[in-house]
Amino acid sequence: MDYFSPNLLAEIRDKFAFVEDCPFEGKRVFFENAGGALTLKSVVETSSKFAAIPDNQGRANPASMALMGIIQEAKNDASKLFGSTTGQFFVGESGTELLFRLVRNAATSAKAGGNILGSSFEHPATRSAAKHWASQTKRQYINVQHEDSSGDVTAEHYSQIVNPDTRLVTILHASPVTGISVDLKAIATAVRSVAPEAFIIVDGVQYAAHGGIKIDHYNIDGYAMSPYKMYSRHGFGFAWVSDRLTQMNHEQLLDGPNENWELGTRDTGSYATISDVVEYLEWLGGKIENTDSRHLKLHNASKAIAAQETALTNLMINGQDNINGLKDLEGIEIIGGEKNPNRKGLVSFRINGTSSHAIVKFLNEKAIRTHVRKADHYSGNILNPLGWEDCVRVSVCHYNSSEEIKLLLLALNEFQLGPPTN
Ligand SMILES: Cc1ncc(COP(=O)(O)O)c(C=O)c1O
Repeated sequence: MDYFSPNLLAEIRDKFAFVEDCPFEGKRVFFENAGGALTLKSVVETSSKFAAIPDNQGRANPASMALMGIIQEAKNDASKLFGSTTGQFFVGESGTELLFRLVRNAATSAKAGGNILGSSFEHPATRSAAKHWASQTKRQYINVQHEDSSGDVTAEHYSQIVNPDTRLVTILHASPVTGISVDLKAIATAVRSVAPEAFIIVDGVQYAAHGGIKIDHYNIDGYAMSPYKMYSRHGFGFAWVSDRLTQMNHEQLLDGPNENWELGTRDTGSYATISDVVEYLEWLGGKIENTDSRHLKLHNASKAIAAQETALTNLMINGQDNINGLKDLEGIEIIGGEKNPNRKGLVSFRINGTSSHAIVKFLNEKAIRTHVRKADHYSGNILNPLGWEDCVRVSVCHYNSSEEIKLLLLALNEFQLGPPTN
């Protein structure tokens, strides 16, 4: 069953573009949210509005001043959404580029020597950046091995490896392959208790759409997201950086303001879409409880998003009435197990002895869009230790419905049994 009432779910779905139809394929169910969430209609409108404005920032004219006000407002909105009262937000080319930039600046401005620490749990964005900059700055790169059975990594794992010479640590908040999130506060605390000066850079790209980020609470130095995975659009990345890292010798224009992280002219429209995302979440939170408090609205929205997504993934795994869940399929193996309290809207599985490509192709033919993760440079870190060549990834978001999950389950049961005979 859905957490949202049918009316509210219908209202939510109406806020997004291409919920039920793909402009290339026609009718389809969208379970590829980890590859890119649906886009808010307000974001589409805002993007087109700002694309037509020729003015640049930093000029003494009304248009320029309006653009700068909109950027500032988006930064203020972001600090409400992501729970930060210090540091600053800035845009870049993509989540990957921002993670490279944060890691590079932290690695090159940290005290010389020591080591850089990351985990096999991470996406290549942070692992590549951390290994590259460990080598460039002549430091050892140390791996914290993740747990195959739970599909995550814990503070205890970090505690066993971190040492007082650790200068920089990268952490993945939630995995786009296992779907499991980590206790970021606990990991950051474990790191700081041994290496208090270490820079901590977090990849929040997969986590962001699932809500409840509290930057102040974590005691970290960088947090990057990809707006196309949180209801905005492609074309830019969005990051928060601590005042501490800003005070270091980070890359910037010669003689420019020291606190600046933005390089070159900004797209005001991209910032404005962040305000659209915040406005949507406040609208959603306001539907849960009638309140004037922005904080409470955002908090309620993130709790409701989590509740709907958990309802969907539980239904997917357990089934309902006479519809078998994933767990009842013959040969099924689910990464992170059937019951995992840290699952964030994503289930990756294989049917032992069956190609995941064949399953995804079959689902595509049934107009249900999912995705194959292969043991390549993106997912090999998770799949190789399991001895898997591939898996099927079904990634949901709060605007998906239990009816859509049932269509998936009926299709998978048909795949396994063959088509009905009558
Ligand atoms: C956890 C994680 N990190 C980084 C990325 C890369 O983000 P981008 O495509 O914005 O570079 C992804 C993309 O899916 C991801 O899931």
